[in-house]
Amino acid sequence: MEKKIAVIPGDGIGEEVMAQALRVLNVVERDFGHKFVTTKALAGGAAYDKYGSHMPEETLALCRQSDAILFGSVGGPVAEMHLPKWKNCEANSILNLRKTFKFNANFRPVKILPELQDISPLKAEVIQRGVDMVFVRELLGDCYFGEHKTFSENGKRKATDLAVYDEDQVASIAHVAFKAARLRRNKVTSVDKANVLDNSKLWRQVVTEVSKEYPDVELEHMLVDNCAMQLIRDPSQFDVVVTTNMFGDILSDAAAVLPGSLGLLASASLNQEGFGLYEPPGGSAQDIAGTGTANPVAQILSVAMMLRYSFSLEAEAAAVERAVEAALKSGCRTRDIFRHSKASAAEEQTTTRLINCQEMADEILKHLEQKVLV
Ligand code: IPM
Ligand code: MG
Repeated sequence: MEKKIAVIPGDGIGEEVMAQALRVLNVVERDFGHKFVTTKALAGGAAYDKYGSHMPEETLALCRQSDAILFGSVGGPVAEMHLPKWKNCEANSILNLRKTFKFNANFRPVKILPELQDISPLKAEVIQRGVDMVFVRELLGDCYFGEHKTFSENGKRKATDLAVYDEDQVASIAHVAFKAARLRRNKVTSVDKANVLDNSKLWRQVVTEVSKEYPDVELEHMLVDNCAMQLIRDPSQFDVVVTTNMFGDILSDAAAVLPGSLGLLASASLNQEGFGLYEPPGGSAQDIAGTGTANPVAQILSVAMMLRYSFSLEAEAAAVERAVEAALKSGCRTRDIFRHSKASAAEEQTTTRLINCQEMADEILKHLEQKVLV
């Protein structure tokens, strides 16, 4: 198979973790006999330095000509947000890409392997009930894309952000969620704030209407504050969680630490034609950028999602995921998941080993080349 991939490392740890992800992609290409033509482009602060824009036309043009986009992360250090290089960086780059390519559905899988429970902040008894869910976050509506306004009223500064949903947007993401549930455990939890917000009332109505077309899928509605609590109290109750842009942003980060770190999770953003962007949702982590300590797993698992969703290469995707699991099970830990404890109850002899970004990729590549079944 021959595919063109737009590679956009972005800012912060983006460059370091992307370099490791591309090593993995190269091995998949070689061992499975594909041709992946990767072309790099700039976005975010990195693009600003060269083009004076966070999303140059060159980058958009490359994305248009590609079969998939592999994205790192964008954004600057918190203390420098006011500088032109970083001001509105996320809105101009990643939000611009989402809007340009109409990526309305964002998949964020969250899974805890029982063997890796030592790196989860949850108690073993909670994890043992099984944690395996996927967030289906609506990505083009809500206060992200409604009007943003900062103004002065009666001598006081005021700011508003309009949170808008129309019924088609809600119906579209609801269909995505119900279809996803059919491939999993047939349960959808729709999360909203229908006790307060009008757009949530509409959301709930439309999701309920769409659910009639999926009588085999169980639908439950949950208020977002309760959901935040349930995610920590008993995450085993969730299969597919469908929610709004803003709630999805917050809840998926909360859920992302259940497996131990944001650095472990990948995401896919798809439009209705199936074109996709793959990125770790964890952010540019400027505080550790350049130290070589970032966890490359999220970026590597984003490659796996790209292989599966954009290229239908299931065996290749699974091989990458198994290699990641094998490296983690063998006790390899980047700093974000290092806990000074046994790697797994099942492998009593294995102690954890603190390694850097590149060494983590080395381990994953070792397992990938051996095609270990774990
Ligand atoms: C995410 C990120 C983005 C978002 C930021 C960078 C704009 O937090 O993908 O979750 O809020 O969607
Ligand atoms: Mg986020």
